[in-house]
Amino acid sequence: MDYKQIIAEAIHEQLHENLELNEIKDLLEKPKHTDHGDVAFPTFQLAKLFRKNPAQIAQEVGESISSPLIDRKQIVGPYINFFLKKETVSSAVLKEVVSEKNNFGNLKIGNGGNVPIDMSSPNIAKPMSMGHLRSTVIGNSLANIFEKVDYTPIRINHLGDWGTQFGKLITAYKKWGSEEDVRKDPIKELLRLYVKFHTVAEDDPSLEDEGRLWFRKLEDGNPEAVELWTWFREESLNEFNKVYDRLNITFDSTNGEAFYNDKMEEVVKILDDKHLLSADQGAHIVDLEKYDLNPALIMKSDGATLYMTRDLAAALYRKNTYDFAQALYVVGQEQSNHFKQLKAVLKEADFEWSDDIHHIPFGLITKDGKKLSTRKGKVVLLEEVLNEASSLALKQIEEKNPELPNKETVAEQVGVGAVVFHDLKNDRLNNFDFTIEEVVQFEGETGPYVQYTRARAMSILNKAGVSDFDASNDFGLSDEYSWEVIKLLQEYPHTVKRAFDNYEPSIIAKHAIHLAQSFNRFYANVRVLDEHEEKDARLALVFAVTEVLKEDLRILGVEAPNEM
Ligand code: ARG
Repeated sequence: MDYKQIIAEAIHEQLHENLELNEIKDLLEKPKHTDHGDVAFPTFQLAKLFRKNPAQIAQEVGESISSPLIDRKQIVGPYINFFLKKETVSSAVLKEVVSEKNNFGNLKIGNGGNVPIDMSSPNIAKPMSMGHLRSTVIGNSLANIFEKVDYTPIRINHLGDWGTQFGKLITAYKKWGSEEDVRKDPIKELLRLYVKFHTVAEDDPSLEDEGRLWFRKLEDGNPEAVELWTWFREESLNEFNKVYDRLNITFDSTNGEAFYNDKMEEVVKILDDKHLLSADQGAHIVDLEKYDLNPALIMKSDGATLYMTRDLAAALYRKNTYDFAQALYVVGQEQSNHFKQLKAVLKEADFEWSDDIHHIPFGLITKDGKKLSTRKGKVVLLEEVLNEASSLALKQIEEKNPELPNKETVAEQVGVGAVVFHDLKNDRLNNFDFTIEEVVQFEGETGPYVQYTRARAMSILNKAGVSDFDASNDFGLSDEYSWEVIKLLQEYPHTVKRAFDNYEPSIIAKHAIHLAQSFNRFYANVRVLDEHEEKDARLALVFAVTEVLKEDLRILGVEAPNEM
């Protein structure tokens, strides 16, 4: 049931000589205030065509529009406001949800096409930062959104496992580290070594030379260097996996930067063959002046390749491997220029598909308005954040529902879900402050609030002893409170489409919040379990809400416990 479509068709019947159906649909508005109806058609655009003032047109056209969905019309100045038949619409919407269940809102857009999503991509030997958390959860949610509209997402963890910093790390390890300490707490110890390197190097620049030397050895395949590197990578990945496990996120590929070491020669050759490389103080660059961008540095004077070179190789590899419909890179906005350069270089090399590459930037998580940084070791450790969130959730559950079975499991779902939801509810480009106590609240616009609302709805169904509905029943509902819920359910496929069009999980999170809020208003005002001629329809609405909230949460990567 797409009532906007149906109203647009009814208007089109009257105006088909003047406007296309789609133009009408685009003009239709959702009035801010329910007093102005459910759908409004402004007539300003018709003034020129009709050579009349809009209010007059609204009067004349308004009269003649009719549809079995329209309960009444109200003409206010240049607007035709439509009030829909609540019973008819709610019955149609609920029939759809009770039969489609979690498939409600699925769209056939992508034709199964592949969409590699470069996400998470933390750097080996460093802790996963809150920034990487953002990339992970936004990327995962986009993967779910793309899947819902019939694409095939491929989650890629482009690990930062190559670069001069590994030379520094090896140097530091050999000077101050031990196998035992690394094994005990790998990332903390490797971070300590890395930080120490930088502190000491401030007074002793020769350390930097040593670092470069070890990286050289690593590139040349020196067994000791390679062995240490492999070990650091493995230990780091084990640590990262702990976080991914808690977030319930898996990857289809963990090919990091090092994977492209033997694939860069080809890139350099392609660029060279197309005469795109020029020398700049011994280095090789691609000039991007016509794109208003700084030149892309492809090879340093000592022959070392760079982050950019590896990303070029990765893009080619992904195109060849997946023949992607789109390729996404979920990476902080501070790398915007890098991705502009990447696309520009590919464009210069005549790869038309460079247009299908999309950098999906996001803002920073801040602490008291300031950026969190890893350099000096002042870093918020993600695992600690998740632990704290989990224990805060447990505390609240102990207060609210001490009898709950599997308290620890639910607390983990609520605590971790709270952190993820908080991250996704903001427009991804916004910076936001992170205060754990605010995130794990059962009230307000939080993940736990949505989860809690759904668990309450589940308990109503439990009390009523129903878990499934016959879609051939009639589910007419007439009150204002259920109507607000019905409208949000009806909108769901459009919501999914908008989230997809804008690469914006927050659109799903906001839908979940609004649906939970309107459901709570409904539940506070409508006695669902009382005998009433609309009782079955009311229960169907409760059921529909549990299904759609669960689907919203699933798309965001948040669990939906049935009880909490
Ligand atoms: N490892 C990088 C960082 O932490 C992010 C990598 C993003 N992906 C890419 N293909 N460049 O900043």
